[in-house]
Amino acid sequence: MCNEFFTLKEYDEAAQAIQGRTSHRPQIGLILGSGLSPLAEEVAQADVVPYSEIPHFPLSTIEGHAGKLIIGGLAGRTVMVMQGRTHYYEGYSMQRITLPVRVMQLMGIHTLFVTNAAGGINPAFRPGDLMLITDHINLVGMAGLNPLRGPNLDEFGPRFPDMSQAYDPTLQATARRVAADLGFNLQEGVYTCLAGPSFETPADIHFLRAIGADAVGMSTVPEVTVAQHGGTRVLGVSGISNVAITEPSQDRETTHAEVLEAGKVIVPRLVRLLKGVLRELPPV
Ligand code: HPA
Repeated sequence: MCNEFFTLKEYDEAAQAIQGRTSHRPQIGLILGSGLSPLAEEVAQADVVPYSEIPHFPLSTIEGHAGKLIIGGLAGRTVMVMQGRTHYYEGYSMQRITLPVRVMQLMGIHTLFVTNAAGGINPAFRPGDLMLITDHINLVGMAGLNPLRGPNLDEFGPRFPDMSQAYDPTLQATARRVAADLGFNLQEGVYTCLAGPSFETPADIHFLRAIGADAVGMSTVPEVTVAQHGGTRVLGVSGISNVAITEPSQDRETTHAEVLEAGKVIVPRLVRLLKGVLRELPPV
């Protein structure tokens, strides 16, 4: 399904179904990328809602994405964690994979932390690095697959949203400070999203490097576009799970197993970084 357009009523049905399952009132959303699900185990007094029990929610179809909402306390905040996301390559429309972001907006969530596993394009990056996302290249959107295509819902935001500061500068500054205090290196750069599911050819990687991408994945950009449309502040962090292959090679390949494995070394630092940022958020 390439396109489907949801109504405010449908977004609202999903939001109400979630609110009926928890007495927590989350203000911060977290989306966990491939292999990063263990972060959700940190949530205290958790209420768990499987995506399958929420009207209109897309269901995760791949390993490493549990498909549950975990709502509870983390670092003194009330959060709603998406343990697993869905991707365009799974066969869903852009509108459906980003539906959870609009549902968060209706629930009053004002800040979204997005994480993903990504391939490192910047030659300075190593597997296991964390990269603060400073901006993105919406290649898939440029090709026409923008989640905001279709009737604009003015209740969420304008027809032509500004994207000049999609990743909140204050949250970025906080993340840099927290990483420095924790004593670990935080890379930064531009993320780009391809539709997948095939990984990139070496020529794709040369192209992506030439246009200014530091990391590549198959997610995040649609969610951030919808977050920005609805005025949600975004912090984005990529876990560099592998470095991109830049020459045809018989003895190296990129695999999903490698991506999941890297998650194990990435998660502990990602947890400390995100908890540190949560603690520093101004009270609302
Ligand atoms: N390419 C695209 N998506 C990815 C990669 C990659 O190398 N690693 C993790 N997600």
